[in-house]
Amino acid sequence: MAENDKVKEKGVVPNHVAIIMDGNGRWAKERGLPRVYGHRKGGQRLRQLLKEAKRLKVKSITIFAFSTENWDRPRKEINYLFSYMEGFLSKYKNELMKEEIRLRMIGRRDRIPKTSIKKIEEIESLTKNNKKFFFNIALDFGGRWDITEAARKIIRDYEGKRISRSQITEEVFGSYLSLADTPSPDLLIRTSGEQRVSNFLLWDLAYAEFYFSQVYWPDFDVKQFRGAIKAYSERNRRFGGIGDGKSY
Ligand code: IPE
Ligand code: IPE
Ligand code: MG
Repeated sequence: MAENDKVKEKGVVPNHVAIIMDGNGRWAKERGLPRVYGHRKGGQRLRQLLKEAKRLKVKSITIFAFSTENWDRPRKEINYLFSYMEGFLSKYKNELMKEEIRLRMIGRRDRIPKTSIKKIEEIESLTKNNKKFFFNIALDFGGRWDITEAARKIIRDYEGKRISRSQITEEVFGSYLSLADTPSPDLLIRTSGEQRVSNFLLWDLAYAEFYFSQVYWPDFDVKQFRGAIKAYSERNRRFGGIGDGKSY
């Protein structure tokens, strides 16, 4: 039986996968190419893996495309990343509609180039009724920013008397975060050998399974992705209980 069929049979495909796509620059450098070639190759890989994820019955993918710290990169690389992303979305638009995929961006919208925001918002609105698959793109996103922003919004609602102190539970706090209406990621994949969260979804990854791959993102192919899903299917998630399946 094919590997992915085995995964499907066991019925343990993660509902939501978060991905830190890392290693584009090093992939290019090893080939004597400018870093941006790695980003381009990485974009092509992403498109392929989104298709595979949907086929495997994963419901949501959240990718880390640009962090609140990535502004520290050379201006030329930043400009390339945003213009590549705009082109990526333009080309991907029809497929998103055909495959009934909803695109949403999470992150700060006030520092990103205007043309990029325009493109994102156009596609968010175009795909807003799609329900087969959810593709979230984290851009100018930081887990600390997300939590701080939630706190600010709670204070705003508290001052407006829309929420009281005793109503602020974990669940309510979570509803102020960017991924409020999406179940938390079950699996986090990070490529390129780095084993850190780099300020991605700090709140939401509380009980995610982590999968680290040595492979650079542009080489992280369908086979590698299936390997990550298979590894996930063999984990024993206990959520603080004793693993008898009754504690949650
Ligand atoms: C990930 O690859 C893509 C982004 C952060 C946008 P990197 O650009 O971080 O590649 P490395 O880690 O330098 O190899
Ligand atoms: C994390 O990768 C951010 C994205 C993949 C967008 P980085 O390459 O920026 O992370 P660090 O600097 O190695 O922690
Ligand atoms: Mg990196």
